[in-house]
Amino acid sequence: MTTPGTGRAASRRKPPHVLANARFRRLWTAMSVCSLGDWLNIVALTALAGDLTAESGYQVQSLAIGGVFVAKMLPAILLGPLAGAVADRFDRRLAMVVADVLRFALVLSIPLVLLLSTPSPGTYQWVIIATLLVECVNLFWVPAKDATVPNLVPKDRLEEANQLNMLVTYGTAPVAAGLFAVLALPSDLLRDILPLAEDPARLALFINAAVYLVSAFLIFTLPDFPKNHTGISTPSVLRQIGEGWRYVGASRIVRGLVIGMLGAFAAGGAVIGVARVYVEALGGGDSAYGTVFGAVFAGMAFGMFFGPRLLRELSRRRLFGLAIVAAGVVLAAIALIHNLVIVVLLTVVLGALAGIAWIIGYTLIGLEVEDQLRGRTFAFLQSLARVVLLLVVAVAPTLAGLYGERLVRVAPEVAYRFDGSNLVLLVGAVLASAVGLVALRQMDDRQGIPIIGDLVAAARGRRFATETQEQPRGMFIAFEGGEGSGKTTQSRLLGIWLRDQGFDVVQTREPGSTKVGMRLRAILLDAAHQGLSARSEALLYAADRAEHVEKVIMPALVRGAMVITDRYVDSSLAYQGAGRALDPADVTRINAWATGGLTPDLTVLIDVPPAIGLSRFASPADRIESEPPEFHERVRREFRTLAAAEPDRYVVIDGTQPQEEVSRLIQDRVREILPDPVPDDSEDATGTIPAIRD
Ligand code: TYD
Repeated sequence: MTTPGTGRAASRRKPPHVLANARFRRLWTAMSVCSLGDWLNIVALTALAGDLTAESGYQVQSLAIGGVFVAKMLPAILLGPLAGAVADRFDRRLAMVVADVLRFALVLSIPLVLLLSTPSPGTYQWVIIATLLVECVNLFWVPAKDATVPNLVPKDRLEEANQLNMLVTYGTAPVAAGLFAVLALPSDLLRDILPLAEDPARLALFINAAVYLVSAFLIFTLPDFPKNHTGISTPSVLRQIGEGWRYVGASRIVRGLVIGMLGAFAAGGAVIGVARVYVEALGGGDSAYGTVFGAVFAGMAFGMFFGPRLLRELSRRRLFGLAIVAAGVVLAAIALIHNLVIVVLLTVVLGALAGIAWIIGYTLIGLEVEDQLRGRTFAFLQSLARVVLLLVVAVAPTLAGLYGERLVRVAPEVAYRFDGSNLVLLVGAVLASAVGLVALRQMDDRQGIPIIGDLVAAARGRRFATETQEQPRGMFIAFEGGEGSGKTTQSRLLGIWLRDQGFDVVQTREPGSTKVGMRLRAILLDAAHQGLSARSEALLYAADRAEHVEKVIMPALVRGAMVITDRYVDSSLAYQGAGRALDPADVTRINAWATGGLTPDLTVLIDVPPAIGLSRFASPADRIESEPPEFHERVRREFRTLAAAEPDRYVVIDGTQPQEEVSRLIQDRVREILPDPVPDDSEDATGTIPAIRD
């Protein structure tokens, strides 16, 4: 379609990225710097709380850090809905700019109070009060921003815009943590330039405050700020959770997913909650704290990005459960290994496992939940995740503080340090493993298949072959060949001969030996379907075959019968693979899947030059018979190649010989694979049916 007037195919070009929109870009930049500031604020304040109470011992220190987390999250949970409703009444630009200036002043006040007074419990109290106030102000800024985005970008770009928002909301966490780690490195240069920057927490808070001013400027100068017209009211977090649970609780799978995802989230939260005191116990300082904090988020980002590509052959539900169990095991290692470097590395792994579980859970919920409930389910999940995170980051250091510091005597001379933080991490590890195991059991879609074998096969890029409980005991013979090769006649003659020998014989053919197969055959061979694409042709033959194997061939083989089929997988390799020039590897793969890997014990290839074979027909040609001679040449060549590659499993017979001669040659070959003792030709065949094979 061309655009009238311009003559250019504008609609066919990729639409410009949402960031090409200058006004959205400006708002997004403001959001990015604010997110960075927010994360810097969390790291700096928790580090500061640890420093301020360092003299008072492990217990007080842990509680002080827990207090900061509570102060950061409590206002959103208690007052969120209220503020959202109020925020809609203000002019949004004004609300955001005022909020930014207030945040700037409040955050700045913390290092200033520290500068002016000697550190005391009173200083800590101001940290908490200022934090509560900043969070209350945030409650106005965030809904104003959320409500403005849909007014700046067109509806069809909203999803893209939301993804960008998510990206900066969480993506700035490792950046902030990294920045903090750098600020905490001992550097005289930094202190010379910035005399105020005696300790990294203060410096980080200065940067944090400045960032809010930048945001105020960006928003103040945003051209044509959209006026409020739609009141987007966000329901209360608690209400969202209550409503969501009513939908989610009904489905066992979704319930399992939600519990698993929250478990994964909680594992990451436990590390963040106790990281400050744990790192100190391991001999690390603020820089190490920043590193651990960043490691969780960097790992998560990594897991979310690579998770979906991981172990593609493994069932997603199994991968989900396994990732959570593994997160539990890694968390236990973090709890018990007293080495800072190892702890940081394991933290990245933990974050990655949590990220994998989160993204897979998210995707699976998307598939399991009906369209009209999906939005609510995701909102529920996000709200619950926030509450879980609040509880974990607040409770973890508090619990650690209550337990305190302990030494466990392993031997008279050896003592192992086991503090509250070790305990909390260990409890978290046990919980995560338990949640993972429950998820694995509750939602397993590959029951009866050993999980280790499944995992090993998936690691090799393969799907674990399903073994049916009942092993086939019969014998499976396939006839293959080009058009008019006489294989149909020959397969019947072999069937008669074997029956005469007293075997239970099932004679069948492809395509069209089942109810569904007959309909597929009609589609496939009807000359009117000339437009059928090569791929759908291959898939339809494979579908017919899957039905054939499951309904006819397998039951007969399990019973111990002799199954003779006129055409099988090789026909698809020859006709669709070579004839239609599809990738043979693809054709092999779909057929291996369709048949569950069932291969004939013997394949009889009756080889006839196409010219001779086709000349044997008198009636009008079907779809495939009417293909040009080159097509049939390719088919013949492929059959011969397949046979040459596996001489033990094939017998190639020249089909231009007289019919009796062909039959005799086939019988000779089949006799070789018949069970001992081979029933003699002269024996009366009406007696008992011999067992075919064990
Ligand atoms: P059919 O009438 O059974 O022919 P024949 O007597 O030659 O066996 O039709 C089968 C046709 O389907 C034949 O032309 C080959 C084609 N075919 C494929 O192209 N792929 C397949 O996998 C199978 C089983 C058959």
